[in-house]
Amino acid sequence: MEHLGRFPGEHGNSQGRIINVDEMAPGDWNFDAIIPDGRIRAVLKRRGITRLQPIQEAAIRHGLFFRKSMLVFSPSGSGKTLIGELAAITSVFQRYGKVAYLVPLKALATEKYKQFVKYWSPLGIKVELSIGDYDMPVRDLLNADIIVITYEKMDSMLRSHLDHIQGSFGVMIIDEIHIMGEESRGPRLESLIIRTSRMLGDVQVIGLSATVANPVQLNDWLTELGHDSTLLISTKRPVPLQYTIVKSNKDLVTISTIIKEILQEGGQCLVFTRSRKRAEHLAKQLSRFSSHLSNRVLHNKRVQLAFKIKRNQKLSDLPPLIFRGVAFHHAGLSTGERDVVEYGFRHRIIHAICCTTTLSAGINLPARAVVLQDFKRYTTFVDNVDDESKFHQVIPGSRVYFKPLPRNTFHQIMGRAGRAGHDTMGSCYIIARSSAEEKWIREYYFKDARRFKAKRKDGRCTGKKGDPSTGYSHEEPFVAIMKGETGGCLESKPGEGEQGDASTGIPVATTIGTLTINGENGILDEKGGLTSMMPRYDPMESMLRERDVLMEQLLLSTNEQDGVSKDDINKFFKQTFFNFLLEDKHTPIDALLGIKKVTSRDFIKYVSAGIDAYLARHPSARVEIAKVSTGMISGTIYPLQHTSFDCIISKGSGIQCTCGNHKHVNGLDGTCQHVQLLVKHILDTRPSLEPTLDVLLQASLGQDCYLDYLLARDLVTRKAGGRYTCSKFGRLVTSLYIYPRTAVMIREHLLEVAAGGDKPESEQVLQLLGIIRAIFKDGGRDRDGALFLGAWCWIEEEPMDVVLDPSAAAMTLPAGLDPGKKPLYPGDFANFRKELLRWIHILGRMASFLHVDFLGDACMILETRVKYGIRHDIMPLVLHIKGVGRIRGRMLYRAGYRSVDDVRQANPAVMHERTGIPQQICEQVIAAASHWQQEDAG
Ligand SMILES: Nc1ncnc2c1ncn2[C@@H]1O[C@H](COP(=O)(O)OP(=O)(O)OP(=O)(O)O)[C@@H](O)[C@H]1O
Ligand SMILES: [Mg+2]
Repeated sequence: MEHLGRFPGEHGNSQGRIINVDEMAPGDWNFDAIIPDGRIRAVLKRRGITRLQPIQEAAIRHGLFFRKSMLVFSPSGSGKTLIGELAAITSVFQRYGKVAYLVPLKALATEKYKQFVKYWSPLGIKVELSIGDYDMPVRDLLNADIIVITYEKMDSMLRSHLDHIQGSFGVMIIDEIHIMGEESRGPRLESLIIRTSRMLGDVQVIGLSATVANPVQLNDWLTELGHDSTLLISTKRPVPLQYTIVKSNKDLVTISTIIKEILQEGGQCLVFTRSRKRAEHLAKQLSRFSSHLSNRVLHNKRVQLAFKIKRNQKLSDLPPLIFRGVAFHHAGLSTGERDVVEYGFRHRIIHAICCTTTLSAGINLPARAVVLQDFKRYTTFVDNVDDESKFHQVIPGSRVYFKPLPRNTFHQIMGRAGRAGHDTMGSCYIIARSSAEEKWIREYYFKDARRFKAKRKDGRCTGKKGDPSTGYSHEEPFVAIMKGETGGCLESKPGEGEQGDASTGIPVATTIGTLTINGENGILDEKGGLTSMMPRYDPMESMLRERDVLMEQLLLSTNEQDGVSKDDINKFFKQTFFNFLLEDKHTPIDALLGIKKVTSRDFIKYVSAGIDAYLARHPSARVEIAKVSTGMISGTIYPLQHTSFDCIISKGSGIQCTCGNHKHVNGLDGTCQHVQLLVKHILDTRPSLEPTLDVLLQASLGQDCYLDYLLARDLVTRKAGGRYTCSKFGRLVTSLYIYPRTAVMIREHLLEVAAGGDKPESEQVLQLLGIIRAIFKDGGRDRDGALFLGAWCWIEEEPMDVVLDPSAAAMTLPAGLDPGKKPLYPGDFANFRKELLRWIHILGRMASFLHVDFLGDACMILETRVKYGIRHDIMPLVLHIKGVGRIRGRMLYRAGYRSVDDVRQANPAVMHERTGIPQQICEQVIAAASHWQQEDAG
């Protein structure tokens, strides 16, 4: 054991083994000794892998092949996938059991799946991919040796098919395990880890992660769950990264110049922007200069690539850019467009991609450089700031605040540069718009950074001379030299390091500092030039605290054969990382988790850290209680002399604050700090009001006891002996993978529609769409109003181009469907269609559970319409006759061919005459109809 103890910056007594790989003495094992299986060695050698990275070697030396669980934290691009791959193959060869390789994204799952198939299928290993949206064919999956699966699919497999999978897995690899700390997907991953630990038996767990600030805590938690996990940490990156913070108030010019340089050197570049619009705009600008860096062969490849998109997506803006070797990439693109762009970049046909965070995690692309155009997620006014710890003032004293990219996301983005096997050095450029921003970036995202007076080796200052036309210079690399032991002053003098834009008099761009991460932490370069700077990471938190998530987990925990007692439920929640992190604070976990009713004292305990931080920022804050009655309490908070916020906690209308954030109130977690301060103030100064406050808080937070909620709505039933069990409805809800509150809402809507009786088909379809829309609205998804237009197109057989192209004639829309103002993209529609189909499926299952058969039928009709973009009447033609789609189907139907039989018996010449379809195609269609009938008969 090389290193036992605490990772710098962490607290608490660690219970697991910790290996600091950077401090490990190099092993004397050669490649053949460390990978004893010749079959595995041969595959690796064929891939050009003849040496292992230190982190990989460390994993093997600490029991990777002997079923030891481990958590691997190392920088992006350090080769974590291979660790998972080796554990997986060994598990199959050694017959330890099946392998679940869990990944967060479908795109990543596909990448890993292809890799497994390419390299390991020839050895007879069976690999399956599971990324579909609902019901999965478990039998197929269980025939596989390795299943590459998204977190959500694994979760639903565990919920619905536990009997089949129990005991069959030997290893579970969780890639990007740090996602457990993310708000949207973290809680379900956390619960999945707890439940797999309990249900799957003796499984080796391998967690792979980018760096976070508290890896020891996560490892200790896994150890507490019974995994005897070893933590492997490394900060070294096989390909060093060089960071440059560029100060510029002309982003476009500066970024163009940086990219030009990279492309001229034969490198490729990813530019990260904060919005789709920016990504597209920037790509268009960059395409102006990039085309001359082409030759005939490259040009032909680009034409082919652009044509691939053009064929399927007439309205795409991408083809003209691809001709010039540039592209954009964001969630609005269709899957086809995304695939083409990624393929083009991987095969060096496209040299620069401007993207949003869609390309920020895990995907392996050959980028030598990464440019981050904006480290701010968005800016807003102080009035909209709900949690001051997450916002920063644009300039001290300003009312404008910004939310930065989280540190871990920032470094994930940086980590896209310089991937092993592609480049030997990665460059990262971060654009700052002022010296203040530059300083902020340096201090927020990095640690141990010291800037030194910029000097040439001959002693003169060398801040780069800015070129006023481009805003950026191509001179020799910036050199920072340490001056004396203490480092000396930091700033390059104005005028020496910067040259102004002649027209505005404002300095346009300066390279502020170039800092290298090479694992030689804080040590000067041999040439006496560069100083090291380490990334600063955020600790991973548990997100298991939001109302819907908690209620879902509570319901899941009652899904045991003999039911559970309150104690059992408590035990489950005591196992969470959420509780693991809370324990020091003596927070009443059962109140927090809604197992018992929350009191105002529980509430204050839970939010105390936030209140302390708020008071530290506003030491002169004052609170005044305004009105007190049994139905409401109100008061005013004065954080500053001339700023005030009025808060009301009322039985009837819930919580309101003039800061506006009462809109987000969601269980304990969503209250603004003004309301929290008011509650604390009342408890401190008017303790006699505590009982009134308790009642008001419980009513206004909607913080009923969650168990009571589930019982009252028949999701959970009470059994003898104080036990609780999931009802039939509850089990349906867990298998559908929806939140209990959403299920209750759907049930109410369906029963209401059912009470109205059977209606014409078109009305029913609209009613179902209305329910889905209400679900989306409840989830606060504002883009979806416009997307429902898409649904209308599918239902009414309108071509989709009408919605995508604003210049096309407007459709006649039913009342309540509003086109909206936000631009829509094909990818939005594709994602929405999948979502819509998922919800139609859920509605159908619920309708059949409630025995409302006619609504079940309406769901099937709606599903067909959305899936195929056709009305019900032409369904047989489109579904059964090859070559007949929406348009031909309608032409045939109008001409009187209403069934497959009608088509089969048709005369091609007559069909041509009646429909206008070319006779040759009529012949093909008739043949296809006959073919289907034969198949059917056979
Ligand atoms: N031992 C090795 N020798 C040569 N190349 C390697 C070795 N191990 C991994 N690589 C290559 O390094 C690149 C990055 O590896 P990988 O994608 O596994 O990184 P990662 O640590 O998972 O990064 P991220 O955190 O970004 O997901 C891949 O192209 C991979 O093929
Ligand atoms: Mg990875």
